[in-house]
Amino acid sequence: MTEAPYVGVDPFAVTVRTIGEPQPARAALRAAGPLVRVDAPAGGPAWIITDEALARRALVHPHIVKDPAWAPVSWDPRTAGLEPTAAAQPSLTTLDGPAHELLRRAHAPLFTARRMASYAGRIAELAHDLLTRLAATGETVDLMADFATRFPLTVVCDVLGVPLDRIDQAIAACRSMYSDDPEEVGGAMAAFAELAGAALAEGGHGLAAELRDRVPAGITEPQLRYLIFTLIYAGQLTTDPSLGFLLARALDAAPEPSEAEAFVRETLRRHVPAPFTLWRFTSAAVELAGVALPARSPVLVDIQGINLDPGRAIGADLTFGAGPHYCTGAQLAQLELRALVEVVRTGFPRARLAVPYADLRQTDFGGIQGSRLTALPVRLRG
Ligand code: HEM
Repeated sequence: MTEAPYVGVDPFAVTVRTIGEPQPARAALRAAGPLVRVDAPAGGPAWIITDEALARRALVHPHIVKDPAWAPVSWDPRTAGLEPTAAAQPSLTTLDGPAHELLRRAHAPLFTARRMASYAGRIAELAHDLLTRLAATGETVDLMADFATRFPLTVVCDVLGVPLDRIDQAIAACRSMYSDDPEEVGGAMAAFAELAGAALAEGGHGLAAELRDRVPAGITEPQLRYLIFTLIYAGQLTTDPSLGFLLARALDAAPEPSEAEAFVRETLRRHVPAPFTLWRFTSAAVELAGVALPARSPVLVDIQGINLDPGRAIGADLTFGAGPHYCTGAQLAQLELRALVEVVRTGFPRARLAVPYADLRQTDFGGIQGSRLTALPVRLRG
């Protein structure tokens, strides 16, 4: 057994760079080997998988689990950005094994490609309305200021059945999740519970109400609301930044509406919204790439590095993860991003970037979060 090589660069650092500049730590991680050791933001070592085949094995490994109950005992859950343990708060993102599979079965039929396709017209209409309202506010608008957050939240809330007069509340709650103040985060969680309650209220016809009828027996109302929170928050967190890169590229390259599907996939591969998987932990001693990891070792997959590996064969990438925790919203996300490209091309044919593409800047927010354009100034009417 060998030790994993230690890499001194910090892959969790905050960075600001232009849209074309690569994330500075990725090449160093990949060059160091398939499994590398780094300093974890919450203290102590963490292991990052940089090799695709190893990543795909780890993502189905029975002893590499999501439950934060297996996090290093020295980690402060708040600094580490961990959710409550699966026992305290069952969730798709914290359960493992059969309990996770049961919950996935409850969600899966609601988020299939076919089910999502039935929302395509409605999603295009929402995109068109929001952009039309925005275009009326000025010649040049910054699509990252509000639209990038509002559009994905409007879509996921509409699909779930959260009344759309609550979108401002949803935007405020999502923004408060970044706060260092535990009280503000607590306030945001209370707001999410209210939003979920509104979707479940008498007469609710969205997917939240359908989910209530499908979850395993024993899931309480507050637990159900937490599941709906997960969908709203996950539905915004990743789609919001991806929308900026997508529109920037679409306005620069002007793809035909018929090319939208491939264009969205390629943009997501190049500007991956979730650069790492969420934290996983070993629940027993595990051997990976010849390295012995003791129980409670924190492990991440470097999705961004793997997606951008120049030696990678063309094929399904890791943008939406792999294995039992593969993204529940992958179809919804791609549908709404495709709709946006099509609506911009057909409804705003003269739209163009108000600054040169190469001058656009992005920020990595630090930790395991991805990057987002700092601004996207656009002239929607040309
Ligand atoms: C471009 C947009 C998106 C990207 C790149 C993305 C990416 C991912 C990734 C990589 C994972 C797996 C994480 C891991 O294995 O640790 C994941 C899981 C998840 N995503 Fe997404 N996601 C996106 C949009 C959405 C949307 C719109 C929803 C809402 C329906 C959503 C809901 C979820 C949920 C609930 C999980 C947890 C699944 C589980 O653990 O079983 N995602 N996503």
